[in-house]
Amino acid sequence: MVRMRTWFNCPLVVAAALGLSIAAAVPAGAQQTTPAQTPPAGTTASPPPQSAPAPAFPRRVGGFVPGQKRPPGDPAQIARGKTLYAINCQGCHGPDLRGGDLGGPNLLRSQIALTDQDGENIVPIIQGSRQNNGMPAIPVSPEDAKAIAAYVRSVVGMIGVQGTPPSLGKEAPSILVGNASEGKAFFEAKCVACHSASGDLHGIATRIPDPRRLQTIWVEGGRGFGLTPGVPNRRTVTATVTLPSGETVEGPLIHIDDFLVTVQIADGTSRSFRRDGDAPKVAVHDPLKAHRDLWSHYADKDIHDVTAYLVTLK
Ligand code: HEC
Ligand code: HEC
Repeated sequence: MVRMRTWFNCPLVVAAALGLSIAAAVPAGAQQTTPAQTPPAGTTASPPPQSAPAPAFPRRVGGFVPGQKRPPGDPAQIARGKTLYAINCQGCHGPDLRGGDLGGPNLLRSQIALTDQDGENIVPIIQGSRQNNGMPAIPVSPEDAKAIAAYVRSVVGMIGVQGTPPSLGKEAPSILVGNASEGKAFFEAKCVACHSASGDLHGIATRIPDPRRLQTIWVEGGRGFGLTPGVPNRRTVTATVTLPSGETVEGPLIHIDDFLVTVQIADGTSRSFRRDGDAPKVAVHDPLKAHRDLWSHYADKDIHDVTAYLVTLK
């Protein structure tokens, strides 16, 4: 996985999420608190401001593990985390956190999630500490990772005594609420540079018959299931390392952090280079980056419309 980057600057999606959730959380006539809109990079939205609006409904406390009461989260941060969760986590951990199609465990029963206070348990996992156990590093900024953790806590913290997630039943029963022809127009404007309805995405709705899963897959760009590991494909991240001597080494990127970069070379072996600041020069090319960069352009409506269109590609 590529080093953490802060490319998830997502004013539209966040604005949409804020619009929806803040409107729901602030009772009419509540004190003006002007929740931060898009938190500027580098700042954190928590701890919650003292003037955080009172929840519209009394909070159920029955499910708190004794001794684990936390301050209620900041609604703006939670709303942002919710959107980010839907994009980055839901496929594996499920829309209700109980585990999903792609094999993530139930987070409602996770001690890690239950005892998280401010991301200290969850953020390192998002950043890749469980990669060897099947959870990839998720490329979100540290601030967004904290927002996701806040959302996870907000759900876990309200679990009823039976372990039933609260209010999650409110999720739309069907996600097919979009307009397929508007979705087609959006697809033709934003997607056809890399995809085609009669080419690579032909039959995608047959391959992925569950619309909810199809939505997760198209938003995130799929998981590359069915591809042979180690064999370069359309999603392979590559790096070009330019050594001080001028020699360049290029190939699939195996590892990169601030201190080391490892690329696979043609004979199948790998070469590692110690990194010191800008030396050697490393250029990373992630074919999915452009796909993910589109996230900042999606409104909820676009996501629903595109899904409604893609389900017609049988
Ligand atoms: C590709 C599937 C996948 C995605 C995407 C994914 N996870 Fe996971 N996650 C896993 C798997 C598999 C494990 C179990 C790893 C282990 O056993 O150590 C896991 C474990 C976890 C755990 C630890 C649970 C515990 O109690 O041990 C947390 C917390 C978690 N994920 C949160 C997240 C969050 C938040 C996101 C989104 C930012 C996310 N995951 C995205 C697959 C995924
Ligand atoms: C700049 C190129 C680019 C753009 C634009 C782009 N994508 Fe992608 N997308 C990719 C790449 C690369 C992959 C990974 C392909 C693979 O796994 O074979 C991908 C994967 C996908 C997948 C998963 C395919 C599969 O078989 O698992 C879907 C679905 C998808 N994109 C839909 C879209 C939609 C819808 C749009 C427009 C809203 C879009 N993409 C825009 C590059 C792009």
